[in-house]
This record gives sequence, structure tokens and C-alpha cells, in this order.
Amino acid sequence: MTQPRTLLISGASRGIGRAIAERALADGHRLSLGVRNPDGLPAGPLLEAARLSPERVLLQAYDARDPAQASRWVAATLSQFGGIDGLIHCAGVFSRVGLLFEAGQEAEIEALWRVNLMGPWWLSRAAWPALVASGDGRVITLVSMSGQRVKGSLAAYPCSKFALMALCQSMRNEGWDAGIRVTAICPGWVNTRMASEVTAVSADAMTQPEDLAALTAQLLRLPASAVPFELKINCVLEG
Ligand SMILES: NC(=O)c1ccc[n+]([C@@H]2O[C@H](COP(=O)([O-])OP(=O)(O)OC[C@H]3O[C@@H](n4cnc5c(N)ncnc54)[C@H](OP(=O)(O)O)[C@@H]3O)[C@@H](O)[C@H]2O)c1
Repeated sequence: MTQPRTLLISGASRGIGRAIAERALADGHRLSLGVRNPDGLPAGPLLEAARLSPERVLLQAYDARDPAQASRWVAATLSQFGGIDGLIHCAGVFSRVGLLFEAGQEAEIEALWRVNLMGPWWLSRAAWPALVASGDGRVITLVSMSGQRVKGSLAAYPCSKFALMALCQSMRNEGWDAGIRVTAICPGWVNTRMASEVTAVSADAMTQPEDLAALTAQLLRLPASAVPFELKINCVLEG
């Protein structure tokens, strides 16, 4: 039986975040879900629990580009559940903008930074005192293999993900003595909307979001003495 935790999960509207949230709900955790459009959450167990079991699932408006929304979400979670013992960063955006970007594309690079790096940073900063108070906090971040190596002509996306890896390392250092353990999950292609235009790997051959949810469920069970910092998940052979 997993010890129930109060988990903040971003990006739970779809894809990896949604799979992780559904699995965490089934495992008995209390969930605080930050989504851009709470009224647009698709039908399913998360929406049903948010409506029928508010003591289990809280839905909050959260846009990763807005630090004030991160603070409001954390405050609402503390008011509803009294504490936070886990933070799972799944919100993220992809871009194919390359090294020699066109005039005007710098806005897309800045948007990536705001969502993929500053979003998790602002949110972690806001939730940090609660994670410290927990004494056994967990931070799980969906980074990417693009936070480990750069492939092809991509530049903007891997730059944001390398920076996110650095944030994970900083949080690991800062949180260690308070019992906070940080894990950076680094998959290659995962079968979600983000990878829907990929043709090099078929959807079936990609890592499935449910498998990352099973991995996350296991991470949440591990004691502080056994939590891995970094997990590379490959669906094709690479370093
Ligand atoms: N799919 C892959 O191949 C892959 C591989 C490695 C790493 N990752 C990483 O895994 C994470 C989840 O990706 P995914 O595959 O699940 O992608 P996805 O299906 O495109 O889902 C992205 C999620 O991020 C949310 N989001 C986007 N912009 C946001 C913003 N400004 N504020 C708040 N939420 C925002 C989306 O919410 P809305 O519904 O509101 O748009 C959605 O819930 C990302 O960090 C991604 O970089 C993905």
C-alpha cells in the first residue's frame, strides 16, 4: 500500500501528465491539478473525482507563464489539503526552432523558456516551503532526452531542457538535507500529441505515457535513500 501523498501535478489535461495523474489517483494520492482551462478538462476519472470527491482532487487554473498563478495554485492547495509532499512537473511545449532562427522566431524561443524552465522554477519556488515542511518531499520533472544530448537541427527545445536539468540539479542540492528527493525523467519520444508529427518512430514503438505513469508510481513509493536522480528512457537505441 502506497503512503498517500498530496501531489501538485502540472500538465494534467493530457499526455504524460494526465496518465501520471490518473495513476496517482488510482493509487490513493490526493491531487492538486493545475491546468490552463479547468472547464475544459476532458471527461474521465480526474474530472469525475474533482466533481464528486473534492477531498481527493482539486482543480486549479494554472498557466506556467504566469508566476502569480503558481503562487495562487500553491496557496489554494495548502488551504484545501494542509500540505504538499510532491510536485510533478509535466507541463511543457515543443519547438523545432533551430540554431539559425528566422527573424521573429526569438519570441518562440522565449516562450519555450517561460514554459519549460521558468514555469517549473516559479512553481517549485512557491511550493518549496511546503516541501521542506513535509520532511519527505518529492519533485519529479519531465525533462527529456533533449536535456541530455542534442539531436539533428533542434536548438531551442534542447536548450530549454538542458536548463531544466540544471534546475533539477539545483533543487536536488538545495533540498537534500530537508529530505526532498528530485528525479529528472528523460524520455525519448513518447506517444502523445507532442510527438504526433514524428514519423521516424511509430506511435506503438514510442514509450507510452502509461508506462511513465507506472514508473512515477514506483518513484513515489521509494524511500529517500533509494530515489534515483535521473532516468533515461529510450524507445530507440542511443547514448
Ligand atoms: N511527448 C514526448 O515525446 C516527450 C518526450 C520527452 C519529454 N517530454 C516532456 O514531457 C512533458 C509532457 O509532454 P506531453 O508529451 O504530455 O505533451 P502534450 O501532450 O503536448 O501535453 C503538454 C501539456 O502541457 C500543458 N501546457 C502547455 N503549455 C502550458 C502552459 N503555458 N501552462 C500550463 N500548461 C501548459 C498542456 O496543457 P493544455 O492542455 O492547456 O495545452 C498539456 O497538459 C513536457 O515537458 C515535454 O517536453 C515529452
